[in-house]
Amino acid sequence: MKLLRVWPACLLLLTVVSCSKGPEPKDKALEAKVEKLLSQMTLEEKIGQMNQISSFGNIEDMSVIIKKGEIGSILNEVDPLRVNALQRVAVEESRLGIPLLIARDVIHGFKTIFPIPLGQAASFNPEVAEEGARVAAIEASSVGVRWTFAPMIDIARDPRWGRIAEGCGEDTYLTSVMGAAMVRGFQGDSLSDPTSIAACPKHFVGYGAAEGGRDYNSTFIPERLMRNVYLPPFEAAARAGAATYMTSFNDNDGIPSTGNAFILKEVLRKEWGFDGIVVTDWASATEMISHGFAADPKEAALRSVNAGVDMEMVSYSFVRNLPELIKEGKVKQSTIDDAVRNILRIKFRLGLFDNPYLDEKKPSVLYAESHLAAAKKAAVESAILLKNDNHTLPLTSKVKTVAIVGPLADAPYEQMGTWVFDGEKAHTQTPLHAIREMYGDRVQVIYEPGLAYSRDKNTTNIIKAAAAAARADVVLAFVGEESILSGEAHCLADLNLVGAQSELIAAVAKTGKPVVTVVMAGRPLTIGKEVDLSAAVLYNFHPGTMGGPAIADLLFGAAVPSGKTPVTFPKMVGQIPMYYAHNNTGRPAARTETLIDDIPVEAGQTSLGNTSFYLDAGFDPLFPFGYGLSYTTFEYSNIQLSSATLNKNDVLAVTFDLQNTGTYPATEIVQLYIQDKVGSVTRPVKELKRFTRVALEPGEKKAVTLELPVSELAFYNIDMIKTVEPGDFGLWVAGDSQTGEELVFKVID
Ligand code: GLC
Repeated sequence: MKLLRVWPACLLLLTVVSCSKGPEPKDKALEAKVEKLLSQMTLEEKIGQMNQISSFGNIEDMSVIIKKGEIGSILNEVDPLRVNALQRVAVEESRLGIPLLIARDVIHGFKTIFPIPLGQAASFNPEVAEEGARVAAIEASSVGVRWTFAPMIDIARDPRWGRIAEGCGEDTYLTSVMGAAMVRGFQGDSLSDPTSIAACPKHFVGYGAAEGGRDYNSTFIPERLMRNVYLPPFEAAARAGAATYMTSFNDNDGIPSTGNAFILKEVLRKEWGFDGIVVTDWASATEMISHGFAADPKEAALRSVNAGVDMEMVSYSFVRNLPELIKEGKVKQSTIDDAVRNILRIKFRLGLFDNPYLDEKKPSVLYAESHLAAAKKAAVESAILLKNDNHTLPLTSKVKTVAIVGPLADAPYEQMGTWVFDGEKAHTQTPLHAIREMYGDRVQVIYEPGLAYSRDKNTTNIIKAAAAAARADVVLAFVGEESILSGEAHCLADLNLVGAQSELIAAVAKTGKPVVTVVMAGRPLTIGKEVDLSAAVLYNFHPGTMGGPAIADLLFGAAVPSGKTPVTFPKMVGQIPMYYAHNNTGRPAARTETLIDDIPVEAGQTSLGNTSFYLDAGFDPLFPFGYGLSYTTFEYSNIQLSSATLNKNDVLAVTFDLQNTGTYPATEIVQLYIQDKVGSVTRPVKELKRFTRVALEPGEKKAVTLELPVSELAFYNIDMIKTVEPGDFGLWVAGDSQTGEELVFKVID
């Protein structure tokens, strides 16, 4: 452990400034409009605002219930003419003319599809997240959508869980920064801008800790862990001004989120000052019956509304039961009024009363060149180079013939990834087409997929792929997951490559030609065997519409990989849950343990030591969090701290030199980790507290500064008080979570 050197230096100041707008300031005029309208509403009209339906297509039938004032919001209607028709009924034919709020899941793009959020997180670039959300908002609002159910910011530490694809991975700080950026992108500078759509951080809260990584399963997150790990991204989203929140399906410690007053009232409203809409997830109110938390729809409505839910998604228990519950005095009129205030407030902020209709004559903005360019940039920055032996990549002019194999080389639908309702495969540019179009003058392409789709077990054509490999200088093998294999309700107990893809890689590797394995997936996969067989591995979490051109540029060197793993890659599924910010335990692994194949026969009972590791997998992951290679190399040096001893209200400045010691211009994602050595409760061995992207020309050296307020070392302690505890801290600045020299500093009272 190096004692720190302390001296000031004038440096390039790079700090991550979390741009937080916070809940909209109280607008007295707007609040007066809310109160005036509320005072005119009947109880039925109030409850109608709390009711959201999914478009069932028949305009006439929907018009009947809209006219009655029974609908506050409609999701899944994206035909602009129909949206205007439905809106006209609400505004011109219902008694009070309250406009509808039209919603859609626009998770990583509307028509122009960006990398799935886990991929965007790999860029460690909040600008990618914000720009992607902005493009999604511009495209979605152009058809009448003004509310999206995103960002999904559930911390996920179990890649068996299919929805790990939709979030920003395992880390609280990374997810907080990326989630807040998405909120800003969706909502723009003002919600009243017609291209702004209300964000909806979801799923509130703790959904990603589903036991066994099985979707919808129970979670058991104690309050301290909830406050230190799972809640902060949602708080960051609130600070960014998120207009709505969605409750999660899981019951945590026996309480379904949709009926959890502690998180919905105590935390969200009282502690964070949130004044927008809380909407249930799809039927999550009445699903509390299945949970055994409500006996029937009436009790489901009771427990949801009294816990702080404002709007019910599709299960209709509010409309059918609240009038009686109010008559019975089980739900207060004031509770209904508060819920409707929240709904009307967001509708006013969105400008829906002044501009309820969209301009049907406006030229289309879908797939605009600038949108496609932003999607390509995001896909380039989301790609992670996991291996690159002998400088296999980028492909140089020495490579004259490439064999392109694998079921994902030309799979436009799969490439878009999960949660794509409006993207169109016809617009997806695949790697096969991109390489042919962009680099066909440099290389001859032999295309033999070998398998028809990722789960294909028919090995008949693998021999053709192997024959193609034998004729080529390099093999480009595109493998991974069809999009259906990740996302909601799509969990896996085995994370090896599905189908006969592993056999395909083995067959082409057997030819002795260098294999570049390009993965497209919705989660980290246990690809250790394929990594060993490959000369290079480029990992893409479903890269979206422009994945092909992005991957082509990366393979041929027009772009240089910079992505880092936003989630730990386990060697084996049995190691899960596995994440870098783990506790040390009382018997941490020494990393020198004897592994299963090296254990002597009849080894003595205590001969292997007593530390925390797996005999058959060791302790370490396949790839750690924050890991990713480049075509160049970087050197960190001269790391200094602004002070060895700090008070709680100090700001620690960490300065260091970063040099590009290779021959390609490239960007490094520098990461700053800390460790609170001793706490009133055990603390993680490392926690990411800052990161930033530094672009360097070959040979260039830059002095970099990261600033970290000591206040950000605060955590909820043994007394459930958020505080910075004095004591010793470790600090690392490195290109991933496992390397770098430790420096130490002390915080004093
Ligand atoms: C789903 C998802 C949620 C989505 C909602 C509306 O079940 O859990 O993320 O926004 O329903 O489609």
